[in-house]
Amino acid sequence: MTPPPGTLLTAENLRKSYGPTVALDGAAFSIHPGEVVAVMGPSGSGKSTLLHCLAGIVPPDSGSITYDGRELAGMNDAGRSALRRSEFGFVFQFGQLVPELTCVENVALPLRLNGTSRKEAERSALSWMERLEVDDLKDKRPGEVSGGQGQRVAVARALVTGPRVLFADEPTGALDSLNGERVMELLTDAARSTNAAVVLVTHEARVAAYSDREIVVRDGRSRDMERAI
Ligand SMILES: Nc1ncnc2c1ncn2[C@@H]1O[C@H](COP(=O)(O)OP(=O)(O)OP(=O)(O)O)[C@@H](O)[C@H]1O
Ligand SMILES: [Mg+2]
Repeated sequence: MTPPPGTLLTAENLRKSYGPTVALDGAAFSIHPGEVVAVMGPSGSGKSTLLHCLAGIVPPDSGSITYDGRELAGMNDAGRSALRRSEFGFVFQFGQLVPELTCVENVALPLRLNGTSRKEAERSALSWMERLEVDDLKDKRPGEVSGGQGQRVAVARALVTGPRVLFADEPTGALDSLNGERVMELLTDAARSTNAAVVLVTHEARVAAYSDREIVVRDGRSRDMERAI
């Protein structure tokens, strides 16, 4: 099936089971460039599975996923991993920073892995850390910063390569509400300023309030919510 015009990432009729457990049961999804879409729903409903399928991390059992006109299933593993490295950024509930590296080295890491020189990578890293208001933490290690600061470092790392889609799975799930709101403000401002689309998985209505549109997943099926603003 042809994706609707103007969409960047589209999924149709996704099914995924883990043994007897049906995680996705015909889920659909679409997002435009620069759009922030919140994926909501109860625990175990299939939100993370949907995100992992959309990002080419987990292959669905059936259904189609199209990114920028290309069918993910038509790519080999190397193609999908190149796509993840160059076009996608990721933020998870616990920042998953490398504990042995300083914060600026963590943010620079995706650029270093793409072959950018250390000096150039750390210069870009630092400018992203400034935007996320964590540049003063550059020489600290992740164990020496707060949860909210660590998540902002993780957001900077996710954006440093200039991704077209930012995947965020409960990015504020481990934070108190004040820190969570600040992370969401900075994350959505930064994404909007670069026209990156954001797939934002969250339980929390106040986090979803930062999105342009909400999708609710229940029992592995998704539907669009019309939000009255
Ligand atoms: N790797 C896996 N192996 C086996 N079952 C899995 C696996 N990943 C997910 N599941 C199951 O698939 C279903 C959907 O899981 P998923 O992680 O997508 O839910 P979720 O909506 O993200 O939940 P939460 O809000 O708790 O993070 C659940 O029943 C879960 O137990
Ligand atoms: Mg989850």
